[in-house]
Amino acid sequence: MKSRVLTGITTTGTPHLGNYVGAIRPAILASREPNTQSFFFLADYHALIKCADPDRIERSRLEIAATWLACGLDPQRVAFYRQSDIPETPALTWLLTCVTAKGLMNRAHAYKAATDANQGAGDETDAGISMGLFSYPILMAADILLFNAHRVPVGRDQVQHIEMARDIAQRFNHLFGQGRNLFVLPEAEVEEAVAVLPGLDGRKMSKSYDNTIPLFEGGARALEAAVARIVTDSKVPGEPKQPEGASLVIIHDAFATHEERAALRADLRAGLSWGDAKERLVGLVERHVGPMRARYAELMAHPERIEDVLEAGARKARAVAQPFLAELRRAVGLRPMLAAAQALGRAGGSVTVSVPSGEVTALGHKPAAKVALPVFKQYREADGRFFFKLVAADGSLLLQSSGLADARGAGGWVKRLKTDGAAALAEAPVQLAEGVNRTAVEAALAALAAQE
Ligand code: TRP
Repeated sequence: MKSRVLTGITTTGTPHLGNYVGAIRPAILASREPNTQSFFFLADYHALIKCADPDRIERSRLEIAATWLACGLDPQRVAFYRQSDIPETPALTWLLTCVTAKGLMNRAHAYKAATDANQGAGDETDAGISMGLFSYPILMAADILLFNAHRVPVGRDQVQHIEMARDIAQRFNHLFGQGRNLFVLPEAEVEEAVAVLPGLDGRKMSKSYDNTIPLFEGGARALEAAVARIVTDSKVPGEPKQPEGASLVIIHDAFATHEERAALRADLRAGLSWGDAKERLVGLVERHVGPMRARYAELMAHPERIEDVLEAGARKARAVAQPFLAELRRAVGLRPMLAAAQALGRAGGSVTVSVPSGEVTALGHKPAAKVALPVFKQYREADGRFFFKLVAADGSLLLQSSGLADARGAGGWVKRLKTDGAAALAEAPVQLAEGVNRTAVEAALAALAAQE
């Protein structure tokens, strides 16, 4: 199975060069690795926790989506979506909320910082703290667990949240998994290798220090104006300069080739003026950022294109989330009344179950009775083409493939449908059988996947 990488992008603020080098660029590069399946989403429900200005929410979400696309995120490769387009996320948040200890949330750094500040100011402990802020880590756990992500690239400040997601997942598995792990336990991935860019004043580039260089905003002129303000020592032109440790050089390195890095160092040691070095830096950054800025402007002029991309992303993500949430609902006991009646019948020992709906996990606390599963059948037609179909336990047809040129292709699709379930359904060369609804097929695939 491919390793699933998932990360949330907070949709507040305007991206700067530090965000690009420290987060956007490495994440996009990682998404191109083979054998990974990436989920990147705009954490716009999280944004609501910190911002009650609807226009800012709207604008920021658009700008950040446009930024990621302009920087080269490929929405064909990556499921790129808005958190708020996935109704399964708040539903799962509630299931998780019910098993999360309040004490665990009391220990969250963000919440503790807020209560400490209140106490320091002589206010009531929880003054101005919303339930959104308090439960922030549970929503984040739902983001991650809903897709059974293995790896979650985040900044250091988010590591505690991933640990909480693991705690919550473990508890849920223990309570409802009946010996099986419903959730994968996610691992935080903190990139040590990527550069942390210094800002204009030499401290870490950060909006809160007001020392940033904008990525796109304000165009090439704003870039030039910001670079002009990078602090340097006061050595005059012609005087030899020490390149190592200079902010300007560190920022330069984040964009430069090996040769360019060596050349700047040699030239500074030989007396290149800081003014000329800044000009060189502007040129270098502009060569990288300029084409992306043009794509950004184009996207911002066509928000409907971004909307389409995000809606398609949500469909991809929901093809995974929907059947999984259905399974989780069954696990906690939110089952169709029909299944409950069958379970009661089973307890009496008299009813044989052979429904195609994949109720393999809906067996209460009794040892699992063997439930008949749907099966894939592969065959070849007289015209030489290869086909497969999914047949329910009662013999009725659920899914029919189109004709494929070779047996390996057909076998490959069967395997993918078995392991990836509904996630593969969208792309597979198949049609639903007449009168069969998608949910039934997704449930049947989920039942098969659970057996794999
Ligand atoms: N809280 C994260 C941040 O501030 C954003 C986020 C929300 C996230 N949900 C997530 C990150 C899930 C990783 C996984 O950066």
